[in-house]
Amino acid sequence: MARVSTFDDWIDLLKEWQSDIGLDQDLIERFMPGYRFEAKYGTLPTSEIYFGNFKGERRWETVMEIPDQRMRDAALSMIVYQGDTEFASNEQQRFLVNNAPSEYDLASLVRIMVEETRHGYQMCHLLVDKFGSEGKIEAQKMLERRAFGKKNRLLNAFNEDVVHWLDFFAYTNFMDRDGKFQLTMLGHSGFAPLAASMGPMLREEAFHMGTGITGLRRIAKAGVIPVEMQQKYYNKWISGSLDLFGTDHSGSAQWAYTWGIKGRVDEDSTSEVVDKEELNDRARSQFYAEVIATVARINEVNVSDTKLYVPDMRFNRKIGQYSSEKYATDGRKLSDAEWEVYAPTVLPTAGDEAVLAGYFANPDWIAPKSASSAAN
Ligand SMILES: [Fe+2]
Ligand SMILES: [Fe+2]
Repeated sequence: MARVSTFDDWIDLLKEWQSDIGLDQDLIERFMPGYRFEAKYGTLPTSEIYFGNFKGERRWETVMEIPDQRMRDAALSMIVYQGDTEFASNEQQRFLVNNAPSEYDLASLVRIMVEETRHGYQMCHLLVDKFGSEGKIEAQKMLERRAFGKKNRLLNAFNEDVVHWLDFFAYTNFMDRDGKFQLTMLGHSGFAPLAASMGPMLREEAFHMGTGITGLRRIAKAGVIPVEMQQKYYNKWISGSLDLFGTDHSGSAQWAYTWGIKGRVDEDSTSEVVDKEELNDRARSQFYAEVIATVARINEVNVSDTKLYVPDMRFNRKIGQYSSEKYATDGRKLSDAEWEVYAPTVLPTAGDEAVLAGYFANPDWIAPKSASSAAN
């Protein structure tokens, strides 16, 4: 039943959602006094569309200015998927307020949860404000899906709980970095309000990734949790985030490009001729290169002789050309039987979670936040 006819109606639903996932208003007030959720629209460097079939035309300010129904549907779908991940990440992280390693970390977590909620808010503001009754229904459904219980968030990686802080820092370094790539691509959109949403979101996203890499560096520096154990969480979220770029040779990615809804990461600066067949793979490779650079920065402070690494692109993929076969982290092809034995040695298991609980009992499992570990 549709309950949303104005944005204020939607805000009421947001309050219900907040209490359901335990994003406590007192906690927000404690770390971010006076914070109010709001939609933020940045200014765009140009009012012109600069890629796709409508290149050179004025960006569309309203949905009705978008010239074709299929294009409007594509824009709506992009916004729904983006918003869904924002709310989902909070649901995944809902346990972490109870086991923060320090007050500083709790403050970072609360800020991240608040900002992810604001990102979902921003997407729903677009839906309710711009997309008529269909947008209102989608904005309501956005708060009805759950990463837990129903586990019906739209992308699988967003239905898994993040229950401890090693998991969380790996999540924010790798999954939020995927978020940065998605937001950057939408920032080139011909649909002006969508593009204008991205600047403020990207500035907030930088803090999430900074929290992730700084946390992973502090863990590597402390040297309490064995590197092999740290590595398992890298493997989990790196492979998961590679999947988020979608299937190879994706038809919907090609249309989104042709229609000027979603550009390449470097659409405003690249002189490369577009290969529409390879859009998702191109973004995935750029992301992979950035992941390699972040892991190198973590190894700079890693006190162990064992180094952290980035698993092969083919490892543990659920989407795309490698999803039907099994590969080791070094890219070796494995039979299904070999994979069964191998997977628990490189991906987190229930047993690992129990072992980790022991490490977390030692307050030195993570180095304190210091000026020298600041990074993003
Ligand atoms: Fe976000
Ligand atoms: Fe984020």
